[in-house]
Amino acid sequence: MSAYSRGQSVIVLGGGIIGLSCALEAALRGHRVTLAEPGRIGGQASGAAAGMLAPYSENPEGADAFFRLSLGSLRLYPEWIRSVEEISGMSVEWERSGSLNILQHEADLLPAEGRMRWQNGWGAGAELIDKDELRGLEPALAEEAVGAVYIPEESHVYAPKLVEALASACKRTGVQILEHAGTIESVHRSDIGGSRIAMSGLPALLAADRVVLCPGAWSSAYEQHLGLNLPVHPIRGQICSYLSPAQWREPLRHIVFTSQAYWVSKRNGTVVCGASEDVAGYETSVTEHGIGRLTRATDRFLPDLRGVKPAFGWAGLRPATPDGMPLIGAAGGEGEWLMAAGHYRNGILLSPATGRLIADLLDGEPDEKTLGGLAPFAPARFTARQGSKQATAGHIY
Ligand code: GLY
Repeated sequence: MSAYSRGQSVIVLGGGIIGLSCALEAALRGHRVTLAEPGRIGGQASGAAAGMLAPYSENPEGADAFFRLSLGSLRLYPEWIRSVEEISGMSVEWERSGSLNILQHEADLLPAEGRMRWQNGWGAGAELIDKDELRGLEPALAEEAVGAVYIPEESHVYAPKLVEALASACKRTGVQILEHAGTIESVHRSDIGGSRIAMSGLPALLAADRVVLCPGAWSSAYEQHLGLNLPVHPIRGQICSYLSPAQWREPLRHIVFTSQAYWVSKRNGTVVCGASEDVAGYETSVTEHGIGRLTRATDRFLPDLRGVKPAFGWAGLRPATPDGMPLIGAAGGEGEWLMAAGHYRNGILLSPATGRLIADLLDGEPDEKTLGGLAPFAPARFTARQGSKQATAGHIY
């Protein structure tokens, strides 16, 4: 792809955390950015997330391209958060808590040691914690937790505040944010470059040199426009939160993971417990079945919450791809259209890396050294395998 100049006009379609991160980075690099969100900023998965930054715990199988991108993104966080907080003037409640992966049986030890070996090769600093140490670290945990793997680098943010801070940072950096923009009605590419897009909720056409699509679980809606297969499926994550029990002298200090659920204390005095993984189309309701699984796990591992009804319950739609990798890269129009979607369980974690990669692509300089190659994330990879979609009028490639 040819190198593009700085100072291009860029439309970002999608106002979740990925769209906001791409918009902010592009604006910081001197591009003129308009972000159009079909509904409300952060109104989908981003605002619903528990905000965990946990590449080791979320990817325990091995150091594949997804893990490497996730770890690279975690390591961008300190500088990225500092910049977001400084520009927005807001705190995103980033807690460098570390995480505890609970061992429930003696038999969990051997696989845990195997994971720690490769994780420590990547600088995790993971340590085995025995039952007595665990009691000292997290007195609220049930006796049946026989030990844990402590990973100091994992941390968490308060996702709704991060969304708010990013939106504010975007505005302060000159990004024009348009909410309730609706869906794409038509797209026209000019012979001299650039696209003009009619959106159902906007009175005027959007026009720009480049377009960055960040539609989360709604990515497949763009298949016809791009002439690509974009098999991104919504996987509902139901989450609940409890008020911290009165008898707790302090909140959970770490993110606590078990195979059934995870828990993380937030500064507002709640303990967030997530999350189901269910296939329910675009339904974001909360079900007894989904929350029941979480409350049963809570009853088992946090005895002070046994029988307590969660104070809140909500759900978000994670954008899942068949191979588990996100879609990040060129998506049509000879590189004028880019895409960043399909981050599944790791949208919050992958935001800084995604913003950087998309901004590098806008500038024509993808940073392959820091974050690994983009090839595994190519948005066209499912099209090459399955043949392209029938393009309709208004397609952009
Ligand atoms: N990253 C946690 C979840 O998706 O539930």
